[in-house]
Amino acid sequence: MTCCDARADGLRLVIGRAGSFQAVIYASPRVLCGLQCASIEDRNHFEALVPRIYELGGALPRDMKDFHDISGCPPAYLPKDLSDVRKILQVLVEAERCAVRAYTHICNLTAGKDHRTYDLALSILHEEIEHESWFSEFLGEGPSGHFLRRGETSPFVSKFLK
Ligand SMILES: [Fe+2]
Repeated sequence: MTCCDARADGLRLVIGRAGSFQAVIYASPRVLCGLQCASIEDRNHFEALVPRIYELGGALPRDMKDFHDISGCPPAYLPKDLSDVRKILQVLVEAERCAVRAYTHICNLTAGKDHRTYDLALSILHEEIEHESWFSEFLGEGPSGHFLRRGETSPFVSKFLK
C-alpha cells in the first residue's frame, strides 16, 4: 500500500469508523499524509510482530484489557477536540518517542543473541524514528532530515510481510 491514497481526501482524514461513529481530522495534506502513512506502517509493525511472537512460543493476550495493560507505551488518546491538530501531533510524537525507546530496548536485548528478532526490531525502529521525525517537524521542532514516504509503505518492515 502507498501512503496518502486511501482515506485522505484533500484536507480531511477519516481516522476511525465503527458503526455510526466516525472521527475526522482536518489538517493540511502534508500532515494528513504523515498521519496516514505512520498509521499504516504502525499496523504493519503489528502484523510483522505477531508471527514472531508465536514462533518464539508466545501468544497475544486473549483479553484486550490485558493486552492494553502489558503494553510498553501508554495509550495515545486523541484530544476530544479533533480540530486541534497541534494537540493531536503532540500525542502522536510522544507515542512515537515511546516506540523508539521500546524498539531500541528490544534491539539491545537481542543484538548478537536472537538475530531474527533483532532484524525485525531494527527494521521497525528505522520506521518509528522516521514517524517521530515527521511529527516533530510538523510541530516546528526543526527540520527532521527525513522526507515523508513516497511510494510504498514500510520500506524496512515490508520484507517481513511477504
Ligand atoms: Fe510509528
